Amino acid sequence: MPSSEQRPSALCFDDPVDAVGRNNTPNPSLDDIVARRLRRRDALRGLALLATAAGTGALAGIRPRPAVAASGETTLSFTETSSAVSPTHHVAPGYTARILMRWGDPVLPGAPAFDPANVTADAQAKQFGYNNDFIGYLPLPAGSANAEHGLLWVNHEYTNPDFMWSGLTKDTIGEKMTADRTKAEMAAHGGSVMEVRKENGTWSVVPDSRYARRVTATTPMRIGGPAAGHDRLKTAADPTGTSVLGMMNNCSGGKTPWGTILTGEENIHMYFSGETSGPEAANHRRFGVGGKGTVYPWWARHDARFDVAKEPNEANRFGWLVEIDPYDPMSMPVKRTALGRFKHEAGTVVVNNDGRVVVYCGDDEKFEYVYRFVSDGRFDATNRGANRELLDHGTLSVARFDADGTVRWLKLRHGEGPLNAANGFASQADVQIEARRAADLMGATKMDRPEDIEANPVTGVVYVVLTNNSDRTPEQVDAVNPRAKNYYGQIVALQPPGGRGKDADHAADTFRWELPLLAGDPNKPEHGAKYPQGISNGGWFSCPDNIAFDPQGRLWIATDQGTDWPRTGIADGIWACETEGASAYVTKCFFAVPIGAEMCGPEFTPDGKTFFVSVQHPAVDGVKGSNYDTPATRWPDFKDGVPPRPSVVVITKDDGGEIGS
Ligand code: FEO
Ligand code: CA
Repeated sequence: MPSSEQRPSALCFDDPVDAVGRNNTPNPSLDDIVARRLRRRDALRGLALLATAAGTGALAGIRPRPAVAASGETTLSFTETSSAVSPTHHVAPGYTARILMRWGDPVLPGAPAFDPANVTADAQAKQFGYNNDFIGYLPLPAGSANAEHGLLWVNHEYTNPDFMWSGLTKDTIGEKMTADRTKAEMAAHGGSVMEVRKENGTWSVVPDSRYARRVTATTPMRIGGPAAGHDRLKTAADPTGTSVLGMMNNCSGGKTPWGTILTGEENIHMYFSGETSGPEAANHRRFGVGGKGTVYPWWARHDARFDVAKEPNEANRFGWLVEIDPYDPMSMPVKRTALGRFKHEAGTVVVNNDGRVVVYCGDDEKFEYVYRFVSDGRFDATNRGANRELLDHGTLSVARFDADGTVRWLKLRHGEGPLNAANGFASQADVQIEARRAADLMGATKMDRPEDIEANPVTGVVYVVLTNNSDRTPEQVDAVNPRAKNYYGQIVALQPPGGRGKDADHAADTFRWELPLLAGDPNKPEHGAKYPQGISNGGWFSCPDNIAFDPQGRLWIATDQGTDWPRTGIADGIWACETEGASAYVTKCFFAVPIGAEMCGPEFTPDGKTFFVSVQHPAVDGVKGSNYDTPATRWPDFKDGVPPRPSVVVITKDDGGEIGS
């Protein structure tokens, strides 16, 4: 989802909107911290320290892989494709990109074929939903490493009604969103489970699979963890505070080692209308819920639970990471409140070197935070069921990035520090529901839109992807967010202590950090971009969003410039690089999306020979006058009368080898 442009096109036109949640807290910027240090210490020494922390190699633990370092040659041998904007997608020569699933394709047995003239709730509830984002591949059978037969979970983040139905304009969209169309929108949200198989080198969806499932904005779900049953989660429809209908705006996510999906509810404020002056008023303001944050006002018109004036607690039941078991179509999704409530992007799970489970989470809004959960219990690889409630018990922390290259994980524990009743936190449930405000009080570092966070399985280094922040002023610049009016984004590398790969201690109180890459066009000094020597003319990118690692530990970066892509003139897509050695962070363009689309969902099969990606909202972003009737592209069908369709694309190498090699 283009979060700085987080609205259906008919409502936002082409102007990036401000962040709607408000982080007005006076947390010290790193400039303040540095200034204090400079007052205490020798000024020259302090400036040298800042220069080091800002990206000249502060991570003592990141060591080159010798073979690569010696030769200086990248193992990424593919020839770059062009990042030019065009009506269709492009992949590097020698690779084939096929459409696997499109919006409206049948998922459940008995689902009707896609009929663009007849998009109904009944049909949509059985078909592939809209705006595919996160993709998770889970092998069949469960627990195997099968790279040619498995389940594919796909998030359906949000809807663009002016691309789903004919005749909607920005002036008429509100009145034309009937109750039936609103139900269809709700059914187009959520996620899909599909069984997929590779035969004779070609992937397809297995029809009528017993695993096939649609999860929507009305699917019954359980609430688990420390906020379950709390008064602030109780509503007229659910006086227990433990049961909720649906999930919304599921952007990115992650997979657990026990074979479930974590899917992140992101911009949930868009669905709520009205305003409350009651006890939830400040909480809703901090989250951007209600008032001007509303994007889908017809949801509240047709379903009163989305009116916070009538049901102020309903919004507290969204904004969580949801755990779903794709192997069991009858299983009930669970909202894991121990992981905190904010605008969730990633939910990346790592088994720590001591067996505890660590989940890294980004809160995707300007000036929001990076979070980490550490479970109390340990992962049991021999007993799947023993891991079911691991994510209900543990400690949520938030990151402070110090100018000396230290990351401090600040624990969000009720009763510790300022997280007490005097500050409105009467219990741990309050801390989880208002995780943002708890993080404010703890002095977390305000970041440039934290999106994906992933750990390199080979090195153990954790990468935090910051997409952009055009609202940062020169006074707000700090070492880890070093550019004002940051339209281009950056990638932060975090080194846990303890050793490489599985030896890394992801639960440690402090890590080290550095900035290996500042995105943007290196040929334009005004962008302030930073890449290593050796980048090609087409090797640069803007607005990194979701990332993946292949089995060799190479980094694959998906971008989302939103409506702002005319600023750079390039398409969104996938760029790849090594993370160690002489070619580290020399990025190369591998795939480009069609005009108006965003790239999301990068996911490899365990053998590295298949690469699934999501093409979201083709024809939508940054194209004036584009809609169902006059789209900027009719990708992927290119048939008159058929609108553009968000789709999952599957990429394989023509010689059958590993992607990138
Ligand atoms: Fe849905 Fe953070 O992009
Ligand atoms: Ca995203």
